[in-house]
Amino acid sequence: MKTLLPSLLAVLLTACAATPQKPAVDKNSLYQRLGGMPAIETVVDASIRHIHGDLRINIFFENTDIPDLRRLLVEQICAAAGGPCTYTGRSMEEAHSGMNLTDKDFDIFVEDLIAAMNEVQVPAPLQQELLALFGPMRPQVVGQ
Ligand code: HEM
Repeated sequence: MKTLLPSLLAVLLTACAATPQKPAVDKNSLYQRLGGMPAIETVVDASIRHIHGDLRINIFFENTDIPDLRRLLVEQICAAAGGPCTYTGRSMEEAHSGMNLTDKDFDIFVEDLIAAMNEVQVPAPLQQELLALFGPMRPQVVGQ
């Protein structure tokens, strides 16, 4: 036991040192003000529910792996809002290529996001901040 303890300690300490540190998150980031990861997951779940139930655009998602899309949307929103995430998905052009999405489709998607954020009671000013992050992506999504 006497000889085992130091080596056990050494193993534990090495494991701790090897654990990557989470990047510091600005306390005032949109990520924090929204309520961190649980709040973003709630928004994404509600958004997917709204989009899935929307006959005007749900056809686009008929062959989509929804758990995968959920994971990527959470990552993307978390990263864009200043949270400790890295987006690992495709570029917006690539992800929407071949869909020929129109401005109308994009507007409906945003409408569903707003309905979802209202449902889960995201305060209006934070909704505006979130939408401001995604509005500029319109040209990367439409017409690909
Ligand atoms: C700013 C607006 C949008 C954002 C931020 C966004 C974000 C994303 C993300 C992160 C992915 C996953 C990327 C990947 O698979 O690597 C994705 C995929 C997808 N998006 Fe969007 N999207 C937007 C607009 C739209 C709109 C307007 C539609 C249709 C009405 C749409 C339909 C889809 C579909 C069907 C997929 C899945 C593609 C597949 O199954 O391979 N997206 N989107």
